Amino acid sequence: MITKNRIQQAEEALQQTKESMNERFRLGYHIMAPANWINDPNGLVQYKGEYHVFYQHHPYDENWGPMHWGHVKSKDLVHWEHLPIALAPGDVCDSDGCFSGSAVDNDGELTLIYTGHHYTDKKNDVFYQNQNIAVSTDGVTFEKVGENPVIVAPPEDSTHHFRDPKVWKHEDTWYMILGNQSIEEQSGRVILYKSSDLRKWEYIGVLAQSDGSHGFMWECPDFFEMDGKYVLMLSPQGMEADGDNYNNLFQTGYFVGDYQYETNLFQHGSFIELDHGHDFYAVQTFLDDKGRRIAIGWMDMWEADMPTKKDGWCGALTLPRELKLTSDNKVLMNPVEELTLLRELEHDVCADKSISGTHLVEEKGDLLEINVEFDLNLTSASSVGVKLRGAKEEETILTYDIKEQKLILDCSKSGKKEDSVRRVSLQSDSKLSLQVFIDRSSIEVFANEGQKTMTSRIYPTEERAGIEIFAEGGEALVADCTYWNL
Ligand code: FRU
Repeated sequence: MITKNRIQQAEEALQQTKESMNERFRLGYHIMAPANWINDPNGLVQYKGEYHVFYQHHPYDENWGPMHWGHVKSKDLVHWEHLPIALAPGDVCDSDGCFSGSAVDNDGELTLIYTGHHYTDKKNDVFYQNQNIAVSTDGVTFEKVGENPVIVAPPEDSTHHFRDPKVWKHEDTWYMILGNQSIEEQSGRVILYKSSDLRKWEYIGVLAQSDGSHGFMWECPDFFEMDGKYVLMLSPQGMEADGDNYNNLFQTGYFVGDYQYETNLFQHGSFIELDHGHDFYAVQTFLDDKGRRIAIGWMDMWEADMPTKKDGWCGALTLPRELKLTSDNKVLMNPVEELTLLRELEHDVCADKSISGTHLVEEKGDLLEINVEFDLNLTSASSVGVKLRGAKEEETILTYDIKEQKLILDCSKSGKKEDSVRRVSLQSDSKLSLQVFIDRSSIEVFANEGQKTMTSRIYPTEERAGIEIFAEGGEALVADCTYWNL
């Protein structure tokens, strides 16, 4: 009853903010809250034939605060319907926040597993965390179970960082991993529990731990099998920048290896960053009924400049991306095929055409998908790319430096005042393909069929003057250039 009131109150607060919200940067086809703050995606799951996505949400303010779980669902991963807030904090088990977690379909009962956050001294950020469960049979209203907290405290060799449960079933057993920090090394690690009923959990041990170079805390872990290998995705806090890698405040990446449930031994390769833009964090995945492993991330970064706060909202999720594993253990990310449903008018700009300098693609739309393919065998230029132009000074530039084999995203003239350029190595010997999704305040780049992705928020304020493709220092053969209004 009390929870119901809290949810109602939060919905009313959202309604109020919505009325005065400035829409200029509101996204056209990404998941956002109706108003105010969001961060991590939570509880990605398919339930009774529909896709459900929850997210960390503060419905009372455009800044982070006591965490609720916002909720949307979709039949096609493209058109999302807002549902009432699923979880509101303030009970004994989650007094100061319902932090990140996951969801499973337990024989028709939609079960959310999440972290309860509790301050003992809020001013100095002293807190403890426990794990909780809430259930629903209609996929809309959730009840926190009487057994909460289902895990009261972390193992003894752990600090108070103990959060972000990801639960899955293997054979007849439920498994849970959590982001955690060891006391001794003060480093990030992932710990494993198991359960037969989602209520009583037994601690198994450490599944993976930083070797000292992977940060002080691992947030939002995920662990799944792909083609016989196991992938551990996680968001380490505090890795040092290393050339073009790990340039954001916090990172998101993965280890690939072999795993045995019997021994809890995960033997893996080195850490690989998952996305190379400015704004990608806390990614989570789920397996859908078509057998696809689908990932969604938070399309922002902690401590970044977030100009939409002034407008009454903040935060969004990335497009859903299908994951594939290559034979050399790299994870590829590509937009799910349903995103073609967004395509409206198709414009075939050029095919098999040589360009030099800039080639204007006349288009003023805010919501676009652009696919460009360069034939590098027939290209003498030193760099090629795509530019979004504003009417005056603004531009976002995506450049491929052919000699250096680097993809470069420059947002210095589209609202990122500091630290505005990201670079990533991309091998392209004969062909370069760029699939680019543009929304009112975001750009998502999928290069060479998902070999590298770059996700960034941009904040253009000028009217858009068009899209250009370009070749510098010579000619480039454009094998194809097509775009769609979305
Ligand atoms: C990651 C994170 C999680 C936590 C949540 C709180 O961005 O810090 O570890 O559960 O956000 O909102």
